[in-house]
Amino acid sequence: MRVLLTGGAGYIGSHTAVELINAGHTPIIADNYSNSCPEAVERIGRITGCNVETHTIDMCDAEAVDKLFAEGHFDACIHFAGLKAVGESVSIPIQYYRNNIDSTLVLLDAMQRHGVCNLIFSSSATVYGTPDKLPLTEDSPTGGCTNPYGWTKYMIEQIIRDAAVANPELSAVLLRYFNPVGAHASGLIGEDPSGIPNNLMPFISQVAVGRRHHLSIFGNDYNTPDGTGVRDYIHVVDLAKGHVAALPYCDSHKGCIAVNLGTGTGYSVKQMAEAFAEINGVPVPYEYAPRRPGDIDACYADPTRARELLGWEAQLGLSEMCRDTWNWQKNNPQGYKGAD
Ligand code: NAD
Ligand code: UD1
Repeated sequence: MRVLLTGGAGYIGSHTAVELINAGHTPIIADNYSNSCPEAVERIGRITGCNVETHTIDMCDAEAVDKLFAEGHFDACIHFAGLKAVGESVSIPIQYYRNNIDSTLVLLDAMQRHGVCNLIFSSSATVYGTPDKLPLTEDSPTGGCTNPYGWTKYMIEQIIRDAAVANPELSAVLLRYFNPVGAHASGLIGEDPSGIPNNLMPFISQVAVGRRHHLSIFGNDYNTPDGTGVRDYIHVVDLAKGHVAALPYCDSHKGCIAVNLGTGTGYSVKQMAEAFAEINGVPVPYEYAPRRPGDIDACYADPTRARELLGWEAQLGLSEMCRDTWNWQKNNPQGYKGAD
């Protein structure tokens, strides 16, 4: 299938492009490089031996997107494009709502006008807000998000559901990612956050490589076995394969459905820091710090629906997550910026 990847130069999009090529599909990347760089696309080419067709385009630009669709002959779209920094979304909410929601509206409009019916959307476990029961199934209550970023995901899910009601030809899969970590085993592509990382794994790996002094563990008085927060970390290559598995499902069904992409297993912050140090043989000094506002005790998926509907299950465990994160970080200590 010819698959348009909006935001395909980013962390999850670049890994998905590789897995799509491995599965015999043709990804076409559309990105404005607001949080990525063309070097990532070069690296996809080095891993796969394929030159990926790439368009520098803002997905909010309706005219440019219409032209892209007129020439693209896409069979499906995977909509990764979006701003994703939780803290930043609190400071500049309007830009977050505008970018994330406008890009989705422009995409849905172009899909409808050009008869493209298959859509996979990058949603997030953040739509579940503060869980009242674990593990989280797709039928768990949503809403109660703690930041504008989370609300954009919640609102976009609703927009896509409404679009699918109005257009019975549309088939949409809302993939709710848990906590993506890790990198491609080649060490050529990985997560490259700008500035101080907000997320745990990039912070740990930057401590290990000497860019940060120590990890602050935000809170050790949570209602969890060791008092530190528990999350469902999922290897980004498993996550990428989840998109490949969603394509045939999307192509053979109509309507809109949400699917969790997680492993079903939760690890604590302390377990993650200690596992990273042990598996890679590098020190990860940490100190306890106050809780981070908006954080919850624990969050992990019930991944049954992904197994039953998509035939997908996470294969990679904590050691691969830690090993591959470190392989990427130590080969690219400054991320893509350090590339020749
Ligand atoms: P990323 O920032 O690495 O990738 C997003 C890409 O979208 C970037 O390449 C960026 O340049 C591009 N982009 C942003 N706005 C655009 C626009 N208007 N037009 C064109 N391109 C645009 O992020 P990621 O981690 O790869 O996340 C991909 C998607 O998955 C995002 O929608 C994110 O919200 C969602 N998600 C990510 C996580 C995570 O932990 N990484 C968790 C849940 C959901
Ligand atoms: C966060 C976002 C979520 C988003 C996801 C992926 C919040 C409330 N949620 O999830 O919307 O979809 O990232 O981008 O921000 N931690 C530390 N020290 C650190 C960093 C993190 O102790 O330096 C802890 C956190 O308190 C948490 C765990 O590590 O317990 C994971 O944090 P993080 O990687 O930021 O992901 P989430 O908070 O689960």
